[in-house]
Amino acid sequence: MITSHIQQVQAISDNFFAENGRKPGMFIRTFGCQMNERESEKLHGLLSAMGYAESASEEEAELVLYNTCCVRESAENRVYGNLGYLKALKKIVVLCGCMPQRPEVITEIKRGYRHVNIIFGTFNKHHFPKLLLEYLTHGKQVIEILQDHSEADKDFDIQTTRFFPHKAGVTIMHGCNNYCSYCIVPHVRGREVSRPVPEIMQEIEALAADGVKEVMLLGQNVNSYEYGFADLIRKVNEVQGLERIRFMTSHPKDLSQDLIDAMRSCEKVCKQIHLPMQSGSSRILEAMNRGYTKEEYLALTDRLKGISISTDIIVGFPGESEEDFLDTLDAVKKAGFAGAFTFMYSRREGTPAADLTNELPKELVHERFNRLLEITKPQQLAHNQSYIGRTVTIMAEGESNKPGIFTGRADDNMLVHFEGSAKPGDMLEVEITGCKTFYAIGTTKKSLRNKP
Ligand code: 5AD
Ligand code: SF4
Repeated sequence: MITSHIQQVQAISDNFFAENGRKPGMFIRTFGCQMNERESEKLHGLLSAMGYAESASEEEAELVLYNTCCVRESAENRVYGNLGYLKALKKIVVLCGCMPQRPEVITEIKRGYRHVNIIFGTFNKHHFPKLLLEYLTHGKQVIEILQDHSEADKDFDIQTTRFFPHKAGVTIMHGCNNYCSYCIVPHVRGREVSRPVPEIMQEIEALAADGVKEVMLLGQNVNSYEYGFADLIRKVNEVQGLERIRFMTSHPKDLSQDLIDAMRSCEKVCKQIHLPMQSGSSRILEAMNRGYTKEEYLALTDRLKGISISTDIIVGFPGESEEDFLDTLDAVKKAGFAGAFTFMYSRREGTPAADLTNELPKELVHERFNRLLEITKPQQLAHNQSYIGRTVTIMAEGESNKPGIFTGRADDNMLVHFEGSAKPGDMLEVEITGCKTFYAIGTTKKSLRNKP
């Protein structure tokens, strides 16, 4: 089915080519998490198969695709702002991903954004060629939103692009079963479905054979992977050619000792974990339905000694008292995070927390947010400073904006700008000479295992 739709769109693109002497242009913008990034690669692959070529900007493209996030209102507002701008440009506009799964968004699009031509959600990305063909043939707005995973979307992999030569995300599971009370994700991505081990291994082996050095195993909660996550990373650790394995996101309530042991014993697994704490108040954690207390979270960070931890924190959950907030600050100090993503609570229609009547005034949330940053930023700086004078192994990502300065990442994901020369995926020994809050600076000592 999908192949026939792809071919029919391709025929239309061929006509465009005959008339214009070039392929129709596409421009993809991705909002949100790594999961969305990965899915954008697949949508890029589908568009390439349908005869589209990448354009440098929205203005130059014939088709603009926004793959969206709805986790916070601010993410949605950015998309609405961009959509507003597209109105005058008269492009084929595609809106997909998490946002359109919310009924309120569809209502809003129908009300004020009729220039959005094709709309689909998270469960029917593999229908994109069919929907595009429908629009190209009839010229009317096409909306298709499904509510579950019942239709397998395997075909979606028919052709995929990789945005990076040296690293790739690999989705190991879809959806989420946790129902944190503030979170829209289970509502827009459905229940958890784990991909079978052989299918994942095949994908990773093909990536490694194609020169990929680092894989990031992706899922909303990889620790509840149905076929055993610790065993999976032990298997991935055996793949020839891979240098690094990362994964995200981990849920504290499901993080097993077996996984911690596997992280320590598998040499390719980076000694780094993203472990969202969300709050340091046990009372708020309960209201968030997180399934652990402040003490349990901190005990977990103790067991992870030697592994660098980054986190997510939400400030201003409904009913958060000054005392609750002080508990968060205290937990942050004790945990010593290498990095923290901090968010102001955003009410999401349809979640249990949206029914709570004790929301905090915006000014108070802002004030607490700034107080939190006063702790997390120096903490991150201290983490980076602890590297000064040491030589660390870096995987190069590419040249930075400044000629002669390259960027790369340490095992624990610290961003490093360094002098030297490197191709993406090269492993280098870099001496760290200085740092700022969000990156470190260094000089190459020697190149390891450079590709010829
Ligand atoms: N408001 C604010 N932040 C949220 N997150 C998820 N839902 C909300 C919300 N309603 C944050 C959590 C999560 C990260 C991806 O986004 O911290 O870990
Ligand atoms: Fe945003 Fe969640 Fe969707 Fe990722 S899964 S894009 S974080 S709403």
